[in-house]
Amino acid sequence: MASTSVEPASAGNGGSAPAVTPDQIMQLGLGFWGSKTLLSAIELGVFSTLASGPASEEDLRKRLDLHERSCCDFLDALVALGMLDRRPDGYRNTPAADLFLDRAKPSYVGGILEMANARLYGFWGSLTEALRTGELQNEAKGGGEDLFEVLYEEPERLRGFLAAMTGISTGAAIAIAHNFPWDRYQTFCDVGTAQGAVPVQVALQHPQLTGIGFDLPQVGPIFEDYVASFGLRDRVRFAGGDFFADPLPATDVIVMGHILHDWGMEDKLKLLRSAHRALPDGGALIVYEAIIDDERRQNAFGLLMSLNMLIETREGFDYTGADCRGWMADIGFRESYVEPLVGPDSMVVAIK
Ligand SMILES: C[S@@+](CC[C@H](N)C(=O)[O-])C[C@H]1O[C@@H](n2cnc3c(N)ncnc32)[C@H](O)[C@@H]1O
Repeated sequence: MASTSVEPASAGNGGSAPAVTPDQIMQLGLGFWGSKTLLSAIELGVFSTLASGPASEEDLRKRLDLHERSCCDFLDALVALGMLDRRPDGYRNTPAADLFLDRAKPSYVGGILEMANARLYGFWGSLTEALRTGELQNEAKGGGEDLFEVLYEEPERLRGFLAAMTGISTGAAIAIAHNFPWDRYQTFCDVGTAQGAVPVQVALQHPQLTGIGFDLPQVGPIFEDYVASFGLRDRVRFAGGDFFADPLPATDVIVMGHILHDWGMEDKLKLLRSAHRALPDGGALIVYEAIIDDERRQNAFGLLMSLNMLIETREGFDYTGADCRGWMADIGFRESYVEPLVGPDSMVVAIK
């Protein structure tokens, strides 16, 4: 059988150039094996079960109701993938899995992964169709509703989606609370706030601020429960409304996280204009998400997020910092800058 490792043509100059191998291609192409193994482990509650202490394969098999055929392979695969550890007393969570994947801990980030498992994993199976047709591939496929109308029809799906947003946004929310000069301002509004990850993290770190979470009215009770769990009800309140039909609350700072990428160009501009109208002179708009690098070469997560918007929305797309700054300048913001937050996320800050 032919070797799968091929020397590049230039390697005849002493053999110091690395071999070209298909490893990266194979890892990427079969990456869904590892991804789905982790998503199923979260669905089955592997990490929440092991949070109470180590357990043997037999014990876990019974507690998680797994078939004996593959239980050992499943658990050992999670060891090899770095999500579990195995010692003589049994399987245990790695420190990161224990902190972030035990549902009972406030640091749980699995909401977004639960949604990936329950919804996106299947919908991404139709990516080729989406690329050919430009049509979304989720629950709204073939209908006239938008993502949020469909998601919010079922209370469980609504709750799951909002918790997923907290999972994906808490790291960025903490960074925004740290990196932005909040001491210059008194009031803020997080537009499309979901559960309220940003208002909570900002209010926790800046006692002088009062904040509003603005979102569709159905979101109110879930936002209020989340804010109350941090003891912040006196400084953070909910305002229900439709950001395309209603004016935004007038505050010193307006935040939009993972909002602009849900919509097409016209709607993006409407939202930016609406924020501009609501801000006083000197007020600030913070737009954050997986902002794509200006060369569109580095931020793979941001580019894949844009494909996720193809799957999930009718017209949405992600964009570069330069794109966003250009729109902000056209609308009348007098200055703007891009600042990295955590991982693939950055914020674009504009001053009116
Ligand atoms: C992708 S989520 C982003 C949530 C949050 N900002 C974050 O980054 O985690 C979009 C949010 O916009 C809200 N939303 C969608 N359409 C809206 C509308 N017409 N008016 C107000 N909020 C809306 C949704 O309910 C949802 O909470």
